[in-house]
Amino acid sequence: MKVLLIGSGGREHALAWKIAQSPLLDELYAAPGNPSIADHATLVALDVEDHAAVIAFAKEKAIDFVVVGPEAPLVAGLADDLRAAGIATFGPSKAAAQLEGSKGFTKDLCARYDIPTGAYQRFKSAEPAKDYVRAQGVPIVIKADGLAAGKGVTVAMTEAEALAAIDDCFDGAFGAAGAEVVVEAFLDGEEASFFCLSDGKTALALATAQDHKRVGDGDTGPNTGGMGAYSPAPVMTPAMVERTMKEIIEPTISGMAKDGNPFSGVFFAGLMITAKGPELIEYNVRFGDPECQVLMMRLKSDLLPILYATATGTLDKVEAEWRDDAALTVVLASKGYPGAYDKNTPIAHIPEASEEAKVFHAGTALKDGGLVATGGRVLNVTALGKTVTEAQARAYALADKVEWENGFCRRDIGWQAVAREKA
Ligand code: AMP
Ligand code: GLY
Repeated sequence: MKVLLIGSGGREHALAWKIAQSPLLDELYAAPGNPSIADHATLVALDVEDHAAVIAFAKEKAIDFVVVGPEAPLVAGLADDLRAAGIATFGPSKAAAQLEGSKGFTKDLCARYDIPTGAYQRFKSAEPAKDYVRAQGVPIVIKADGLAAGKGVTVAMTEAEALAAIDDCFDGAFGAAGAEVVVEAFLDGEEASFFCLSDGKTALALATAQDHKRVGDGDTGPNTGGMGAYSPAPVMTPAMVERTMKEIIEPTISGMAKDGNPFSGVFFAGLMITAKGPELIEYNVRFGDPECQVLMMRLKSDLLPILYATATGTLDKVEAEWRDDAALTVVLASKGYPGAYDKNTPIAHIPEASEEAKVFHAGTALKDGGLVATGGRVLNVTALGKTVTEAQARAYALADKVEWENGFCRRDIGWQAVAREKA
């Protein structure tokens, strides 16, 4: 099979690494890719916003299958256009990608199909949203409706914070994403991410993970795209997984199909495990980044036929097998992230990978023959272990061998699971 992978982050490096191991693979291309994806794929300098150019390239190279990594091209309808051109594609349609692209869309779906989630209302202007906040009281959660790179959510502990967050959204802090606002009840509990595949009819549970969204140790400081993650999430016991499938995932898949937007691709539910059970915080219509990196380390099965079955409506014919080991990834980010940071800082040394530990590249480039950091989140040091404690020790041992002056990482990724294992 000839495969084209769309994306350039740590998630796509992990996908490329795993797809490259498939005996079914003849050739792998990646657009635009990154220097380490180049170890597994031929990089193509395509503008992925130019759908016609992606289709033309796929036709020229007789690509059998396109795998789309990030959400932006999905929300822009790249998967629809590729499929319309007769090219098998892993990734949801633009209509189904609204599960991530519009928080209001997902909340309305939950309301229609009785999916447990926080009580909410949608607003198109500030005053009625503020009245609702005053009536509900705090804590309360304010969300820009659209894609805001993980920054459009304010968990407000005071009324002043909530009102300011509403003004921010309507004053354009998140551009068009903030033109509509969802105000939602605060849910209390432990968070977990639950990854599934669907071909529009069947849902296949993959695995669970927990990520660390805050930039600082002890889960402090501003939110980021994710500073580290581990899998499995201990809070997702087999009984909790079963309830989540029945109460959240299955009604979502059947509801999306009933509404004329069948969902095909990978998605993950951001869950809050409350005293009442699992409740939905949000959906994402792609692999999480860096959660994908830990999932790929744990996946025993060949990934390519699973993705292909998802895209071609035969998901009921495949299974995914997982290692019992835990996996943990530590994100090395540029100093200053998630605020302003220097670009093109030199990375002097990346340590060798082993069976149990490996460095995925998330935001690197080659400049004058040397490796430089180009993004906020730059490297994902990922390790397996019999326990999260062991995976954590291995990941930090490898991270400490990376030579990059301008990099930093949290030192406590996995702390909840490590505390549980000690107890
Ligand atoms: P989201 O972008 O929707 O994942 O939200 C970012 C983070 O905000 C989540 O990971 C939660 O930690 C928090 N959050 C979002 N919605 C709620 C809620 N209803 N109650 C409590 N925390 C929330
Ligand atoms: N790490 C969170 C995400 O990919 O949305």
